Amino acid sequence: MDVTSVVCPELGPLTNLRLETRPLADPGADEVRLSVGAAGVNFVDALFVKGEYQIKPPVPFVPGSDVAGVVDAVGSAVDGWAPGDRALAMVGLGGYASAVNVAASRLVRLPDGLDIERAAAMVQAYATARYSLVNRAGVAPGDKVLVLGAGGGVGLACVDTARALGADVVAAASSPERLAAAAAAGATHTVDYSAAELKSAVRDAVGFVDVVVDPVGGALTEAALRTLGDDGRLLVIGFASGEIPRLPANQILLRNRRVVGVDWGAWMLTHAEENQALLEEVVAAAADGRLHPVAPTAYPLADAAAALADLAERRLVGKAVLVP
Ligand SMILES: NC(=O)c1ccc[n+]([C@@H]2O[C@H](COP(=O)([O-])OP(=O)(O)OC[C@H]3O[C@@H](n4cnc5c(N)ncnc54)[C@H](OP(=O)(O)O)[C@@H]3O)[C@@H](O)[C@H]2O)c1
Repeated sequence: MDVTSVVCPELGPLTNLRLETRPLADPGADEVRLSVGAAGVNFVDALFVKGEYQIKPPVPFVPGSDVAGVVDAVGSAVDGWAPGDRALAMVGLGGYASAVNVAASRLVRLPDGLDIERAAAMVQAYATARYSLVNRAGVAPGDKVLVLGAGGGVGLACVDTARALGADVVAAASSPERLAAAAAAGATHTVDYSAAELKSAVRDAVGFVDVVVDPVGGALTEAALRTLGDDGRLLVIGFASGEIPRLPANQILLRNRRVVGVDWGAWMLTHAEENQALLEEVVAAAADGRLHPVAPTAYPLADAAAALADLAERRLVGKAVLVP
């Protein structure tokens, strides 16, 4: 079967990406072939293509880790899956394609009530959100959670997940449009950090907070650390600003604060079964209305470079998917 893929021929500008059509082998004994209905577009995909991620894939490669679609062929040793079943999968690389072969053990069944585009868009953001807020921070009902970059993929998923956990959420972002999205996802307070100083604005709104979600980095991180009350936790998730912050240790000592690393990517590689259970949990919660992933912006596969540029250059609110 012929498959159309987005190929990165060499590390560099996003405009290097090009479409290619090549044959795909039949799935192996333990694999299924998934006809991709949508591939999630993630911040890390742009870093891979530009050669700015700590791992540099050998070129040429097909970016894209998250796919959702319909099973269209099943390997001889696969039980429990049949053509026509809807599923999502994390494939590492290779997801920006019209079809992929994937180990059946990596599939998560899509319940009725969760469409394929939302499913592809939510995988990484919601898994990161749940791992951060539940596994790493132990967020409890009534906690106050400050989310930076709250209109982005991880940010919006954290707003939604924190609300589902019974927390009060302060959303912080750089534009009214992003803050409106965060408020729609359940944030009760909003702070525009392009217009107001973060620490004072948060303290004025809600006093000290219990948890900070930080996928942005840069100067915001120290300001956010200073909003934490007793035993407050700063979740270090990413550096979308491109700047890795340095923190004054006295601000960690004060109020017995904790700085907590979040490396969901590393954890899922060593905890495959727990990660599979985590994915099943977020998918079930999205299908039965406990979580509310927003519909992503859809781009055709041919516009992968534009989708990644819109994400990396801060033009997107929420998530994007590529639709083959
Ligand atoms: N640790 C983990 O396990 C893990 C898992 C998934 C993702 N991540 C990382 O988390 C970060 C965020 O991912 P995401 O999917 O949420 O990305 P995203 O959708 O692009 O959101 C990132 C947010 O960062 C803010 N930002 C501030 N300065 C920026 C800049 N110079 N360029 C781009 N964005 C900027 C933007 O919000 P404002 O404009 O409102 O500031 C944007 O909404 C990335 O670094 C990603 O690699 C880490």
